[in-house]
Amino acid sequence: MTATSAVSQEILNPHLCIEGRRRLQGVLKVSGAKNSALVLMTAGLLTDETVELTNVPNLTDISGMGRILSALGVEVHHSGDSVVLNAANLTSHEPPYELVNSLRASFFCIGSLLGRLGQARVPLPGGCRIGARPVVEHIRGLKALGALVSVEHGIVTASVKGSRKRLTGAPIVLDCPSVGATETLLMAAVLADGTTTIENAAQEPEVQDLANLLSQMGADISGAGGPVITIQGVERLHGVRNYPVIPDRIEAGTFLLAAAITRSPIRVEPVTPEHLSAVLQKLRDCGCQLEIDHRGISITPGDIQAVDITTQPFPGFPTDLQAPFMALMTTAKGTSVISEKIYENRLQHVAELQRMGASIRVEGSTAIVEGVSQLSSAPVTGSDLRAAAAMVLAGLAANGTTKVSGLKHLDRGYDNVEEKLNAVGANLKRQQS
Ligand code: EPZ
Repeated sequence: MTATSAVSQEILNPHLCIEGRRRLQGVLKVSGAKNSALVLMTAGLLTDETVELTNVPNLTDISGMGRILSALGVEVHHSGDSVVLNAANLTSHEPPYELVNSLRASFFCIGSLLGRLGQARVPLPGGCRIGARPVVEHIRGLKALGALVSVEHGIVTASVKGSRKRLTGAPIVLDCPSVGATETLLMAAVLADGTTTIENAAQEPEVQDLANLLSQMGADISGAGGPVITIQGVERLHGVRNYPVIPDRIEAGTFLLAAAITRSPIRVEPVTPEHLSAVLQKLRDCGCQLEIDHRGISITPGDIQAVDITTQPFPGFPTDLQAPFMALMTTAKGTSVISEKIYENRLQHVAELQRMGASIRVEGSTAIVEGVSQLSSAPVTGSDLRAAAAMVLAGLAANGTTKVSGLKHLDRGYDNVEEKLNAVGANLKRQQS
């Protein structure tokens, strides 16, 4: 890049200009789940046959995962909402550092590489703004399955002894119900010799989606979605055609909150309601009426009252909707206590909301939000994917035009968010400087 273009890159600060206080109406369309599609793509490494995923969201993280898998020798074809993978001719067991470092989910391929090849060298995923993001549980579990694992110079090297290079099934008890560890160990165990049990497993819908795909590939798994998952190792896995990724529950929750914060009646679809039970309860508690059917949810916001939330592993209130929900609480009647129990540093959106007139006090990992009658527009930045979403919601409600930067975060998790919101009456414009 020349000096001039480097400077212009510096000056170019892509942002969304959001006109506030517009009423929304119509249907907000939900894409496939980012946090499912990414891990389902790594499961493609477990077979030499073709795996086709559909309802895949159009996100920068999906393209990034495609590049990582291609670097391992996987044939990747991505067109529309379909991703077709073929890992018959793997050429490497070491995804490149510069690609892994920016995409945490790629670390989970250590499980599928070990299961398929009996070896893997994967860079440690970097921490990020919201926390240290350790992978202790993943490594402990892989060792329990008989892998030799060492961590040196930021690289995790794992291998399996013996000519067959097969892991050995074992009982595993997780210290914490880590989503990524549960997914990594599921993928490592499906081709292991014997039986594996994962206790204190994560119960998130994305874990269930992975178990469903692996079962359709020929794996023998029971209990996924509950606290104990049992896997009987099998000899090999086969391909799958046209496997649909589940709807993104976090995008759906974000859209329901967009309706609530603008006091607009909106329909959100497709949604799997049981993937959002805790969030739907809090929306009812704070004054929204919900009509739920098997395809989606229609929300009619009332007079929004403050409610308390504490983030928990599924089926509790999801940490990924903590920031968007806080945006709603800034204009609720009363005081809301919001406790973040999953990550050590996921309250950075508080300062940005305060710039828009929100009245929030932070004590440790708890935010006390005093509802105000009106937010006012300001230039703000989203510091992580969901904080950026929270700022978009605040901009929809604020007086004036809000400028939200940090779109590289937003575009990682929301597929064409301005097109979808503008289709129901919002006015968001993406600008470069
Ligand atoms: C997944 O991350 C999601 N990402 C995250 O979504 C989500 O916030 C998180 O699950 C929790 O629901 C993907 O699926 C790609 P964890 P993951 O391991 O697997 C601690 C978003 O915005 N922990 O369940 O990394 C850890 O520090 C992203 O879409 C350990 O202590 O989450 C964290 O505090 C953000 N030791 C908590 O558990 C370990 O060995 C949750 O981590 C592993 C984790």
